[in-house]
Amino acid sequence: MEKVANRSHLTQLVFWLVMTIELLLFLSASSEQLSARKLLRGDTTDPLQVQLETSDDNRVVIDNGLVQVTIGNPNGYLIGLKYKGFDNVLESRNKDQNKGYWDIVWDDNAIDKIETEQFKVITQTDDLVELSFSKTWNYTTDYRKAVPLNIDKRYIVRRGVSGVYMYGIFERLAEFPAAQMYQIRIAFKLQEDKFRFMALSDTRQRVMPMGRDRNSDRSQTLAFKEAVLLTNPTDPRLRGEVDDKYQYSCENKDNKLHGWIAESDDNPAVGFWVITPSNEFRTGGPHHQDLTSHAGPTALSMFVSTHYAGKDIETSYNEGEPWKKVFGPVLIYLNSASEDARKTLWEDGKRQLNQEIESWPYNFTGSEDFPNADGRGKVSGQLLVRDRYMDNDLMQAQSAFVGLAPPGEAGSWQTEGKGYQFWTQTDQNGRFKIENVRPGEYNLYAWVPGFIGNYKSDPNITVEPGNDINLGTLIYDPPRNGPTLWEIGIPDRTAAEFYVPDPYPTLMNSICIDDVDRYRQYGLWERYSDIYRHGDLIYTVGVSNYSRNWFYAHVTRDGGNSTKRPTTWQIKYNLEDVSETGNYTLQLALASASYAEVQVRFNDPDSDRAYFTTRLIGSDNAVARHGIHGLYRLYSIIVPGNQFQKGENTIFLSQTRSTGAFDSVMYDYIRLEGPTN
Ligand SMILES: *[C@@H]1O[C@H](CO)[C@@H](O)[C@H](O)[C@H]1NC(C)=O
Ligand SMILES: *[C@@H]1O[C@H](CO)[C@@H](O)[C@H](O)[C@H]1NC(C)=O
Ligand SMILES: *[C@@H]1O[C@H](CO)[C@@H](O)[C@H](O)[C@H]1NC(C)=O
Ligand SMILES: *[C@@H]1O[C@H](CO)[C@@H](O)[C@H](O)[C@H]1NC(C)=O
Ligand SMILES: *[C@@H]1O[C@H](CO)[C@@H](O)[C@H](O)[C@H]1NC(C)=O
Ligand SMILES: *[C@@H]1O[C@H](CO)[C@@H](O)[C@H](O)[C@H]1NC(C)=O
Repeated sequence: MEKVANRSHLTQLVFWLVMTIELLLFLSASSEQLSARKLLRGDTTDPLQVQLETSDDNRVVIDNGLVQVTIGNPNGYLIGLKYKGFDNVLESRNKDQNKGYWDIVWDDNAIDKIETEQFKVITQTDDLVELSFSKTWNYTTDYRKAVPLNIDKRYIVRRGVSGVYMYGIFERLAEFPAAQMYQIRIAFKLQEDKFRFMALSDTRQRVMPMGRDRNSDRSQTLAFKEAVLLTNPTDPRLRGEVDDKYQYSCENKDNKLHGWIAESDDNPAVGFWVITPSNEFRTGGPHHQDLTSHAGPTALSMFVSTHYAGKDIETSYNEGEPWKKVFGPVLIYLNSASEDARKTLWEDGKRQLNQEIESWPYNFTGSEDFPNADGRGKVSGQLLVRDRYMDNDLMQAQSAFVGLAPPGEAGSWQTEGKGYQFWTQTDQNGRFKIENVRPGEYNLYAWVPGFIGNYKSDPNITVEPGNDINLGTLIYDPPRNGPTLWEIGIPDRTAAEFYVPDPYPTLMNSICIDDVDRYRQYGLWERYSDIYRHGDLIYTVGVSNYSRNWFYAHVTRDGGNSTKRPTTWQIKYNLEDVSETGNYTLQLALASASYAEVQVRFNDPDSDRAYFTTRLIGSDNAVARHGIHGLYRLYSIIVPGNQFQKGENTIFLSQTRSTGAFDSVMYDYIRLEGPTN
């Protein structure tokens, strides 16, 4: 007492505050009602040890006092996640192979749910249990029946973490037959009646239609089967909205946290989150877009897909081609809260994501195929840009994307689908440091916002454990042959800066109302025919404004009778002088292409032969999938001075294919360069 009496008022205050908090914590631990009021997550002071129960022949159960995880034995399906008031957050009405499962779309669009055959305990301590469910491909029994892969699906439950880590080690031996693998992912189907609120980012959150609202008695299919108009949803407030899983897509670099919240009047709300702390195992680099969560309620962890890239992304494996890759780990995280649940659970999901990122690469995984921090290396350097038509001095490549990916051509990372990629962004001085790189052979690639083209550093870079490789100063010379005469757009590999029309008021999805997401609305491509009713787009350099007068996608127009017609856009500009003998350059950067051909003509729209054609390109489907870009393509078209005239000139850009509404390109940026001076 004496000691307490001697304390200053401030210390007393702190003391009583601490006592009060402890008392509250004690109360909350002992009373269901109070504990529900506080956010409940894994960091309690005395988390229980992790326990493994294997007595049942068909299933194993891991329990850490926070969550109980049940896995089919030996098929490796995730069949139960018991958490808080939920006996199972996964849809208990579904069959075991349809609750939480890996699947691979291979060869002729066959789906293999990679049912495993062997169960093994990898680690079992009080702090952690890691289990392996594996399968060895067998020519006699599996040829043409199962994807030719040796598979090892791993589950880890840790003390104090309310969730389960999942990763997979997939391997092809040289003697395996050729195969296509278009898609590799983990899918989770949650309790349909409970998980209604979906969150993908700070702004992309909404109450979702139920899976059954997409059935034909409750909705109308739009231009393709994934998009529906909700005509009679269970929640009448959603009537008249559009739902399409591709509206919930995300670039790899941002696809780190998404999931669902189950709200209830009587119980604390529960959140289910897919947390992806690293992109190293995803394909196509930082800008590859993929699915996240969607009506079902479904949550996906996408590893490989052709989405927003099409058949250009690498998915073929030849006979004699060995391959091994670790997908994950990802964390399936569960949290709960009873007040302000949507915000609290989303914010707590972000907190947990940051914790996972900080502990990446994990040091608790049992597979030797997943190197921890000591088994990895670093690569650093500084990237400068040399473009004397913009600046006589070297420029620092600010906020450039710099990455290590398997050796290939400049820009090949965006269609690379088999190896690991490691990306970062440069600082204000163009400096970069890529950490936690797995041992291997790479090229260093980059692209710089504001500049066209692709950077690649020529020598292969071999990373070994513990390496700290400094590449020094690297210089990027973007494509450039002469001074800029005019330009349209911003070289940023998207069409976001162009005119994105308002959606049809009858075809809106309220999750895309934020200004940066407006391009995700359904049906914007159709608006071209409304807006350019009397003739195709004409852009006049010096008069037009690309954010208002350049439609975000070069699409077909309505031809009546459900047909589509090709369209020709014009760029009008003035040349005061023309160099008859010099060469001009048209830098034509595309942000997307689907079943399209762009033909370029100078001044003569009727010439039989176009001066330049891209030929048939692309299948990234970015327009249909509500992307603002797909794959990037750059054409540097050399044009002799005799194609131009003094005074008014016109460039005709024809997209000649019109088999359907989605034959299209998006432009990223167009620049006309004068002759070298
Ligand atoms: C492959 O399956 C066949 C038929 O079940 C079996 O006889 C053979 O031993 C298996 N091969 C291996 C390597 O397991
Ligand atoms: C594993 O990493 C965590 C931080 O992510 C660290 O606190 C812990 O000491 C590490 N454990 C070992 C065995 O290295
Ligand atoms: C770089 O690596 C690739 C793939 O391993 C290899 O084909 C190529 O020959 C290497 N290039 C050089 C210059 O070593
Ligand atoms: C182009 O239009 C946008 C959007 O209306 C506007 O913010 C911008 O200032 C305009 N640019 C010019 C050069 O007028
Ligand atoms: C539309 O199709 C009908 C029936 O095939 C045909 O009679 C009509 O001429 C077509 N209209 C146009 C504008 O092509
Ligand atoms: C212009 O380009 C053509 C074809 O690429 C080339 O043959 C010619 O030498 C170039 N002329 C000049 C002045 O660079």
